[in-house]
Order: sequence, then C-alpha cells, then structure tokens
Amino acid sequence: MKLIGPFKQILTLNHLSLRGKISDEQLEIIENGGILINNENLIEAIGDFEKLKSDFPNAELEPRTSNLEPQILLPAFIDCHTHICFGGNRANDFAMRNAGKTYLEIAEKGGGIWSSVKHTRNASEDELLEKLLERINRLISLGITTIEIKSGYGLNVESELKMLRVIQQAQTKTKATLVPTCLSAHLKPRDFEGNNEEYLQYIVDEILPKVKEENLAKRVDIFIEKSAFQPEESRKFLEKAKELGFEITVHADQFTAGSSRIAVEVGAVSADHLEATIDEDIQYLANSESVAVALPGASLGLGEPFTPARKILDKNGILAIASDWNPGSAPMGNLITQASILATYQKLSTAEVLAGITFRAAKALNLTDRGILKKGMKADFVVFETDNFQNILYNQGSLVASEVYIDGEKI
Ligand code: NIG
Ligand code: FE
Repeated sequence: MKLIGPFKQILTLNHLSLRGKISDEQLEIIENGGILINNENLIEAIGDFEKLKSDFPNAELEPRTSNLEPQILLPAFIDCHTHICFGGNRANDFAMRNAGKTYLEIAEKGGGIWSSVKHTRNASEDELLEKLLERINRLISLGITTIEIKSGYGLNVESELKMLRVIQQAQTKTKATLVPTCLSAHLKPRDFEGNNEEYLQYIVDEILPKVKEENLAKRVDIFIEKSAFQPEESRKFLEKAKELGFEITVHADQFTAGSSRIAVEVGAVSADHLEATIDEDIQYLANSESVAVALPGASLGLGEPFTPARKILDKNGILAIASDWNPGSAPMGNLITQASILATYQKLSTAEVLAGITFRAAKALNLTDRGILKKGMKADFVVFETDNFQNILYNQGSLVASEVYIDGEKI
C-alpha cells in the first residue's frame, strides 16, 4: 500500500449525476486529503491524510516533490475524441480559412481531410508512431491519461490498418490508455471507384473484418455531413457495423443538423460536434443514453459556433468535452484551454467542465473504471500546484499540471 499526500484539496468528482447540470457547491472536496493505493495499483481509500496515516500505519509514504506550494488532486482527464495519428500539416488550410475560404470549399479543392490522407498514406509506420507518441506525451503532460484515437486518414484497407496498427503499437510504449476507433467512413477517398454506398460496403466487407480479426478497434465512427456521408446510407452502414459487434460513435451535426438523431437511433455511445444541432434534436439527444460530446477546439479552429453545451445540460443530457485534436479543424490540442473557453462562452460551471473531461467522458468511451476518485477505481490522477480548484479553468490552460499519475505511479 502507498499513501500519497497531503493535498490542500482533493476533488473526487464522486456522487455527481451522470446527466444534467452540476453546481460547484455539489463537488466533494476533501481538505488536507490523502489517497491510498493498494497493491493492485487501484485506489484503496481517499480521505483525511492524517487519519489515513494512522489507519494504515504500514502504508509506504510517497514523498511529495514540492510542499512549498499547496497542491490539489483530481481524477486524470480523458480526451474522448481525437485524430492524433496523422502525417503532414495543414497550416495552409488554416491560413486559407482565415483568408475567407470555408472548410467545405477547401475540401472540395482537394485540401482538407484528403490532403491529410495523402500525407498519412505516404508516411511509414515508424514516422507515424514517432509523431503519435509525441502527441500522446503532450496530452499526458496536460493531465490526460485516457485518449481516444481515430483512424480515418488512410481510407483504404492497407492504410486504415496501418493507422490502427500504429495506434496498437503506441499502446505498448505508453502507460496512457489508448482507445482506438475505426473512422474509415471519414470521407470517400478520391481514388475509390464507386459511390458512397459502395465505399461504405467496402468498409464493411474489407476493413471491419480485419479490424476485428486483429483486435485493432472496438468502435466505429462516421462523418455524416453533406460533404461526406448522407444520413440514410450512414444509418445502414452503422447498423451493419453494430451487427459486427462494434460500438458506434458519430461525427454529427457539425455543419448541418439532423445526424445526431441517427446517432441516437442506432444507439451510439456518443454523438460528437453538434455545433449545428437544432433545439428539437438537442432535446432528443438529451433524453437518450448517447453522450453529447462538445469539441470546442473545432469551433476555435474553424471559427464556427460552439456546441450548445448549456442547452444540452439544461435539458438533462450527458455532456462530455474533447479536443478533436486533428491537423485540420482542431490543430491546438489543448483540451484544458478549450474546455475553459467553452465554459466562458456557454456559461458552464467548473464542476460541469470537470465532469465533462472525467467521468462523463469515460461514459462516452464506455469505461466504468475511471474518471472518479473512489475505492476500486483506476489510480490515474493529476496534481496542480494551487490552493483552489477554480484556478484550473480560470487560468485557461496556463496553469499546467505539475504531476500526473497513471496506475498509482508518477509519470
Ligand atoms: O472532427 N469533421 C470531420 N472530421 C474532423 C476533421 C478532420 C480534418 O479536418 O482532418 C473533425 O473536425
Ligand atoms: Fe473529429
């Protein structure tokens, strides 16, 4: 057993609702707290540090790196939507958008996702792995220890499997938990001979069986949008993916409303984006078990409206927040900064934001062992040198995590 502490405050995020509004007053805060880790590297107990010390006299005491500044502890963060396995860079797309071209216009001219596909196809596995690990390490330094990562820049059997194998290899080199998702339905590649439906059938026939065989991903995603896949063909595809045993998540309502309904109807674990969702559909999503995932990094990258996070919470939906880190729409990759900005524009409480990047994000990934500090949970947590948890969002990302723990070990 190992006892870590004392911390000025421990925010457990325990005893909070999975859905709807949360006020900061509802947060469980343990003053002068300690956390006890058992021999399976899980959380054994959390409570008053001195009490834990006398209750568990044989626990090894882990020395704090700094006792000069007060420290606070909270569950490590979860980024439940990223595209961080990619080759190349799209700074030129960003500049073109700022010069007045739209995301869709750039895509139509062969920029956008297709340009990342060309770079990713041309990259070797080693090159992709090196860049991916750099990005994973950057996320870990922000306190993020669970990272969803999508394919979707390969768009043929060979390159989609290459991406997913690289993600699988990365898992052997990091202690962070990587959650791979097959996004072969990101866009019909320009070199595919056939229509959208034929491409989606090709994914079902040629890609998904191999993904299953090699255990490369348990989740399937699709981009439903005018420029990508249409609602009805997408629904059929998702039903087939479900039959093959995949969990479903959807890029929904990014520019055009309507697809979050399909996500709910097929029982998706999450519907992500939702910048364009209409009120009626917000209600429909909020009544469902699908997590609504706001991606403020994409709004900031594209100059688009923010996801109506406030309305989703007020209608009792489950709201998570993720970075969408990708080379096109969301190049920043700083979930803490983005979530803080979303809070400002959407009037979210600190508790709602923290829930959105911890236990509610865990729900979007169907993970039940993390996101809350309580007995039996995975011992992933993050330490900030500050005396008050509100400083995390207040500093909009510039207060950086001072320590990050995975399975009870400092990274
Ligand atoms: O989540 N909208 C579709 N997919 C990504 C963007 C991918 C890209 O532009 O490379 C997104 O925003
Ligand atoms: Fe995305």
